[in-house]
Amino acid sequence: QTGKFTYDPGFLSTASCQSAITYIDGDKGELLYRGYPIEQLATNCDFLDTCYLLLKGELPNEQQQKDFHKLVNNHTMVNEQMQFFLRGFRRDAHPMAVMTGLVGGLSAFYHDSTDINNPQHREIAAIRLIAKMPTLVAMAYKYSIGQPYIYPKNDLSYAGNFMRMMFATPCADYEPNDVLVRAMDRIFILHADHEQNASTSTVRLCGSSGTNPFAAIAAGVACLWGPAHGGANEAALNMLEEIQRNGGVEKIGEFINQVKDKTSSVKLMGFGHRVYKNYDPRAKLMRETCHEVLGALGLENDPLFKLAMALEKIALEDEYFVARKLYPNVDFYSGIVQRAIGIPVSLFTAIFALARTVGWIAQLNEMIADPEYKIGRPRQLYVGAPRRDVPPIQQR
Ligand code: SDX
Repeated sequence: QTGKFTYDPGFLSTASCQSAITYIDGDKGELLYRGYPIEQLATNCDFLDTCYLLLKGELPNEQQQKDFHKLVNNHTMVNEQMQFFLRGFRRDAHPMAVMTGLVGGLSAFYHDSTDINNPQHREIAAIRLIAKMPTLVAMAYKYSIGQPYIYPKNDLSYAGNFMRMMFATPCADYEPNDVLVRAMDRIFILHADHEQNASTSTVRLCGSSGTNPFAAIAAGVACLWGPAHGGANEAALNMLEEIQRNGGVEKIGEFINQVKDKTSSVKLMGFGHRVYKNYDPRAKLMRETCHEVLGALGLENDPLFKLAMALEKIALEDEYFVARKLYPNVDFYSGIVQRAIGIPVSLFTAIFALARTVGWIAQLNEMIADPEYKIGRPRQLYVGAPRRDVPPIQQR
């Protein structure tokens, strides 16, 4: 019994830590940020309210909301030197390779003035990271297409500012469409935190050594890149486009058979989850957002969205998926929404990292604030060679 939640002893033995930030009930398909259901947050709040909640444990009141938005907006610019990090990359470098470098590079500017054991320092590091991630992701995108960087504007919303930095040019400003900005903000909310997933556990373990938060978040970016984790949204869209190229809805049966074939390594990307053995509540919200965005753009008949819904319908009725409790996860529809907004598929995981930064830093700060925390030191079961002596080279 921990607080209002009871766990069976078997579960407790697998838990890596105790946390008060995010709660997932994988069997019920429930996700709470600080006790609030993700459905209500995605509908009634914006991403910065969600950041405030994850960092401080409560939703902001009107004055707190105004002050927090202003504080974040005042930290959206990055040091002008950051652009020289980018110049070292090829233009076609994967954005996650660039982001791993840029976020690690932030520590070069702040590590010596950030004492991780000082709560005020932890707070300003969190603000700096939340504020600067959109600027860095947009810079990575502009660099990849050879366009000049667009500076943040403090009078725009968090999502609107990001989209302007992505799509405006010195010759033509970007007029954010409210539906698309709301969709972008919702994508950020849905990806903000998710308990002790692989990248969050990486950030906690890395940060437990006392390293600066910028370096610890860079480790999280690197872990999130993997196709079984944050890279799944990019892989899911590529999978849908490939099925579409090979015949679309008519060929779904063939594709599903490939997935079920034990000799093939083909997976239905965007399906399945280590914890959800029911529908990922974020996937439902992402599918609704898909409808809203495609409707606003007059793309209701988008072939990929129709293909995704047909694939979901077939998979949810197929014994292979039902027996393994495989349901759509957050990554299944997010790629279609981002593609409709105009975001290149290669940038999907960088946007996941942008949104997850608040979760990573909230979890890191929660760990550091615990007086009992120590450097992580997982142990192992040794299954290698028994003790033996080194033979002379002639006998090897
Ligand atoms: C994220 O942890 C988090 O919270 C992560 C995340 C977050 O917000 O941080 O939610 C984000 O990472 C979501 C997951 C994104 N990844 C994908 O969509 C990639 C495709 N999914 C699979 O890689 C897989 O579902 C996992 C790794 C996500 C979860 O795997 P499981 O279910 O824990 O365990 P498993 O891999 O052992 O699968 C069990 C069975 C196996 O078949 P059998 O050996 O029992 O015959 O289900 C099969 C698997 O082969 N299986 C799939 C499948 N996922 C699992 N078969 C086909 N397609 C799939 N997607």
